[in-house]
Amino acid sequence: MANQSGTTADLSAQILHALSHKDSIKSSSEFPTLPSTTVKSALDTLASRSMIKYETDTKEDVILEEEGEGILKDGSHEVRILHALQKEMEGLSLSELEDVIGDKKAVQLGSGKGFKNKWFSKEKSGKLVAKTTGDVEDVTRDQLRIVQQKHTYPDSKVVAELKKRKLVKTQKVISYTVYKDKEYALEIAKLQTDLTEEMLESGTWKTATFKKYNFNSLGSDQNAGALHPLNKVRHEFRQIFFEMGFEEMPTNKYVETGFWNFDALFVPQQHPARDLQDTFYISDPKVADRPYAESEEDSADYEAYWNNVKEVHQEGKYGSIGYRYPWAANESLRLVLRTHTTAISTAMLHKLASKKGPDGRPPPAKYFSIDRVFRNETVDATHLAEFHQVEGVIADYGLSLGGLMEFMRIFFTKMGIEDLRFKPAYNPYTEPSMEIFSFHKGLNKLVEIGNSGMFRPEMLEAMGLPKDMVVFGWGLSLERPTMIKYKVNNIRELLGHKVDLSFIEKNPAVRLEKA
Ligand code: PHE
Repeated sequence: MANQSGTTADLSAQILHALSHKDSIKSSSEFPTLPSTTVKSALDTLASRSMIKYETDTKEDVILEEEGEGILKDGSHEVRILHALQKEMEGLSLSELEDVIGDKKAVQLGSGKGFKNKWFSKEKSGKLVAKTTGDVEDVTRDQLRIVQQKHTYPDSKVVAELKKRKLVKTQKVISYTVYKDKEYALEIAKLQTDLTEEMLESGTWKTATFKKYNFNSLGSDQNAGALHPLNKVRHEFRQIFFEMGFEEMPTNKYVETGFWNFDALFVPQQHPARDLQDTFYISDPKVADRPYAESEEDSADYEAYWNNVKEVHQEGKYGSIGYRYPWAANESLRLVLRTHTTAISTAMLHKLASKKGPDGRPPPAKYFSIDRVFRNETVDATHLAEFHQVEGVIADYGLSLGGLMEFMRIFFTKMGIEDLRFKPAYNPYTEPSMEIFSFHKGLNKLVEIGNSGMFRPEMLEAMGLPKDMVVFGWGLSLERPTMIKYKVNNIRELLGHKVDLSFIEKNPAVRLEKA
């Protein structure tokens, strides 16, 4: 916009020049035709160099409308009608008047006023006849003349009346009163931004004018990489888990067999969660191999485990009567997109069963994971077909439910969630199961934040874990606390192709309000 900045520079020079022989100038009289925004930008440039100071005055100007201009030129309608009638002794009919005046509306408006002033009257013949031979005062025209000269009128009632008659309008006018400031000069000095070697050598630094630091300017964009809000919150959660002595589970597989996702968790093969409507099944390949050790260190017995799972579902075992249905190996081998990270926890607990602590028994363990899971959900403002699950499991001897509730309280307090409530719930793999609620101050209600429970013996004993080892687990979504934290109402603004990149770039680092 070279053109526009050129104009501003010219205008700045004009302003400085106008001030050279006056103490102050008014922009409305110096530059009456320039838009106030143009004037302001030139003034701001000079003011930023302390060359001038200015005050802003805002006032209402009264301006003639087109009809008002017409009246000012030819006289008001009533006076024009009177003049026409004064020339005709016999008077004129309305239609004759319209021909003379040439404006039907003017005749209508003007005749009413003329009757009121008793300047003319209507005879029986229907003709209008003048009642006065002398000259009359054209009040409206006189008022408009003053408005035109002064852009205002002393009596506001008159302005209101003229406005109502659509002869004038009012308009906001911004003008500036400009004064010299301490750096006033006729020329705009070239501002130096750097002190150079040459300036020191030649001595010009003594007279040079240096540009002031602008502490209000925003730095230029750094274009650095940025973590997604979910990753920032994930980072905070990981810190809490590590701080509490948890070990991170390897969750690097989205595809699992029904065995790990459901059967090992004592979820019966007819359970609605296993329906197509809830779970995504892989179409190619459809099935996988039976569970096996994936590394050499893994000495767990997968064959016995497989058989135990089958038996506990089909016939019952470990004191449980089971579900008593014909358990199908093929159903268990079907590949699914994992619906929860509990599939991973299960595999980890199974490995734990073959580990030996100092007393020869599986040692206590604390595991966590934060990763993606998939559910065949109808997508809406708060649900996508995938989300991130935060999950923790604690395996130890002699754990009590009360102790675990206390643990939950400590865990959630570390992420700023206080005032926990527990509600009995149902999961096929835990008993007892508890939904975890917290009172949300912003929403002023209890919101569900997670699900938890003690894993069932049907699940744990089939793995080979000792009877007196208790395993507690809980899970929550990463999305919900992130949405609350970043005040995102629609999950599609957080995840997916509609995410605004600047939202990711500009968001501050997360700080969970830790107690
Ligand atoms: N798998 C549960 C869910 O998806 C969370 C959970 C994990 C519950 C462990 C109990 C124990 O909601």
